Amino acid sequence: MQGVYQSVTKDTLVQVRNVKKYFSDKTGILRAIDDVSFDITEGETLGLVGESGCGKSTLGRVLLRLEELTEGEILFNHKNISKLGTKDVKQLRKEAQIIFQDPYASLNPRMTIGDIIAEPIEIHGLAFKREKEKRIDELLSLVGLNSAYKGRFPHELSGGQRQRIGIARALSLNPRFIVCDEPISALDVSVQAQIINLLKKLQKEIGLTYLFIAHDLGVVKYISNRVAVMYLGKIVEMTSSQQLYQNPLHPYTQALLSAIPIPDPRLERSRSKVFLKGEIPSPSSPPKGCVFSTRCPYAKPLCFAIKPKWKEVSPKHFTACHLYDTAGLPSQPSG
Ligand SMILES: Nc1ncnc2c1ncn2[C@@H]1O[C@H](COP(=O)(O)OP(=O)(O)OP(=O)(O)O)[C@@H](O)[C@H]1O
Ligand SMILES: [Mg+2]
Repeated sequence: MQGVYQSVTKDTLVQVRNVKKYFSDKTGILRAIDDVSFDITEGETLGLVGESGCGKSTLGRVLLRLEELTEGEILFNHKNISKLGTKDVKQLRKEAQIIFQDPYASLNPRMTIGDIIAEPIEIHGLAFKREKEKRIDELLSLVGLNSAYKGRFPHELSGGQRQRIGIARALSLNPRFIVCDEPISALDVSVQAQIINLLKKLQKEIGLTYLFIAHDLGVVKYISNRVAVMYLGKIVEMTSSQQLYQNPLHPYTQALLSAIPIPDPRLERSRSKVFLKGEIPSPSSPPKGCVFSTRCPYAKPLCFAIKPKWKEVSPKHFTACHLYDTAGLPSQPSG
């Protein structure tokens, strides 16, 4: 069982306790999220990284109760939201929202930008016509667009502008918490930095809390206070962004970092790298011991048999890996 990442403080906004999300598929049970625990502090950005299919989006959706959880407990603002009825889920929507990866697919092509932004306000019956118009202008301005965009349709906008609309819509109900599910992956590199800067600016101005999902550790480094690394439905390492990049503990994190090129060719050649072998196993039949054992260059017989415990290896630096069962650094990989 994965332990709790940090003790609860007054500022803790989201508490996730031993959450599991299983789906049924043809081959049996698919363990998309398998016993995950962590907290998110008000005002911080927690980055969540891992390869495709490891469960990042499912975790984000479960936190927002867009998806039922199979087991475990989620507290939002100290209230248990694990088993909410429809009315309470609607209430939660005002406080917790999502921004999607593909802004084009997430915006209704037949609605004007104004109607798209105002839809959540309408659903919640929160404003009359004049106030609504004012709020749309306000939201457009918050995301760096002028009110002339109100009458346009999504296909008339660029990818970056569409993502700004996705953000404006997510902000329309004044949430405290936003799950950003790969919000820049579908955008041109030149636009990615603009959207990241916008998210950072909004966080500062409104005091938002983010769960920021990405494939790429390079992206989360810039925006996250802490980072959680996910592999096959489990969090395998979690610490501050700085610690994770300077001193990655888990071989999987080391491999993800090895994949980020360093612009200086001399440094790039001289650094030691961890390469992954093989494919990610299916979440329908995860390895018996450590989930990473089948691809780990350091794996020993113990790793294939016993699940590693979640440990605080150094202050506020947690990992689940047998290399850290006893003090000392890992030995060299065995080929
Ligand atoms: N509704 C569903 N029914 C059945 N299986 C699902 C469902 N949603 C997700 N899964 C499975 O759960 C696992 C985790 O999926 P998820 O979309 O959370 O991964 P991800 O980390 O977000 O991947 P990506 O980086 O590609 O977006 C995958 O094996 C996926 O096929
Ligand atoms: Mg996803």
